[in-house]
Amino acid sequence: MRQDVAKTRRGSSLSLDRRQALALLGGAGAFALAGDVGVQGVHAAEKIVEVGLEARETPFALPALPGKPLPLYLYDGKPFRLIRLTKGERLRAKLTNHLAEHTSIHWHGLRIANGMDGIPWLTQPPTEPGQSYTYDFVPPDSGTFFFHPHCDVIGQIGRGLSGILIVDNPDDPYRSDHVLAVRDWRVDTAKGALLPISTDLGAAKAGTFGTLRTVNGAAQPDFPVVAGEYARIRVLAVDPTRIMEIGIEGAEAAIIAVDGFAVGPLPLESWRMGMAMRLDLAIRLKDKATTARLVDYFGAEPTTLATFSASGEGVAKGDFAPPALAPHGLPEPDLANAQTIPFLFSASSAPGQVPEPITLPNGVVFDPADGLCVSSRTFWSINRTSWPGKGAPGLPQPLVTLERGKSYIFELTNTTPHSHPIHIHGFGAKVLDCSQLARPVHRADTMLLTTKERIRMAFVADHPGDWMFHCHILEHEETGMMGIIRVV
Ligand code: C2O
Ligand code: CU
Repeated sequence: MRQDVAKTRRGSSLSLDRRQALALLGGAGAFALAGDVGVQGVHAAEKIVEVGLEARETPFALPALPGKPLPLYLYDGKPFRLIRLTKGERLRAKLTNHLAEHTSIHWHGLRIANGMDGIPWLTQPPTEPGQSYTYDFVPPDSGTFFFHPHCDVIGQIGRGLSGILIVDNPDDPYRSDHVLAVRDWRVDTAKGALLPISTDLGAAKAGTFGTLRTVNGAAQPDFPVVAGEYARIRVLAVDPTRIMEIGIEGAEAAIIAVDGFAVGPLPLESWRMGMAMRLDLAIRLKDKATTARLVDYFGAEPTTLATFSASGEGVAKGDFAPPALAPHGLPEPDLANAQTIPFLFSASSAPGQVPEPITLPNGVVFDPADGLCVSSRTFWSINRTSWPGKGAPGLPQPLVTLERGKSYIFELTNTTPHSHPIHIHGFGAKVLDCSQLARPVHRADTMLLTTKERIRMAFVADHPGDWMFHCHILEHEETGMMGIIRVV
């Protein structure tokens, strides 16, 4: 494990031995290891983890492009700011905004109170430049999550503003644990300058692709894995655009969680991922002579994203049978009595109109173009409605209103020739069936709806609020493919 630590100190890896993480949780040491980032204090008695998150533009040279700092938007000066806590602990995260525009933090995949969901105008006031906002909640589930702003997502996440939240479960049986954040950067590598993050052509099609592929900001980094032992590999797809078909070569591998929610273990052939999806794998390297690779098969040629090198003298014993994670505690939808609601994901038929600014009774001017977090371009829709609703005087009406405590089946249909990773806030849905890709029943908060696909997902509408429901390709989200699901 010493190698993990050394590697992390060099800043190219977010790895942390889980036992170390647990042992060191009382001190700043664990979090310094986990990326040298920011302030993090722990009040052991109350089990409150306090985190400061300073959002600002920071010149940062990615390990994949050394010596060429890019003007990235980062939390605490590093990409993929990692917050790690143990299930049951309370997170108190204070966001301070040093950007030139307002921001907020959405905790992607967490089933927390609507008021902590981080949506400007909908669940909280926008955090204006110079202001702070404190999020305070106990994550109900262990797993692999991430966090990011929810307005001008192209401008902010596109420039790097996102972080990773790991909630450890002390009952999980993996000693060794690596975090791999996979994303591209839109950069002119010769000049060392950012390219325009979004283009109309990209926004209207599959999205605008990055030019520099990285894992944790590095090109094909290597991760040490103890030979012969099971290791947990957390893959996060955080590229704003790219769809990947993830596989492992050179080692045995199984899926142990999807979007943080325990499953299986299921044998891994390959797994298709779009932005915001997470996949936890168990891998085992046979002996010290083994190297394995994380591969994306989606393009014309398979691409190696990262490698795993065996360390130690261990040799794999017995059949490949990685231990299961502690089961997720998500409520079981009542399928027999669930109402089915269809959702159609299409191109927009008419350009959306951004309404005029209005003055609220308290004198605050609400500019829908800003408050609704859209550009004036509209290419996409859900149920033929583009965000914002045409001519709406403010936030659009919910796409649907659900009754608290009831079970629902959402039937998602993609009428477009592009893939859309569809994310529902606040719930861990049960993916029942998919018309194109063979996928076992599993839980997810982001479902990849491939070309012309139909997916049925079920969940219990067990907590009230207005929850966002959108494609997570940032350029689709901000050009219409977004709506609100209301639970009352
Ligand atoms: Cu990752 Cu609406 O969020
Ligand atoms: Cu999309």
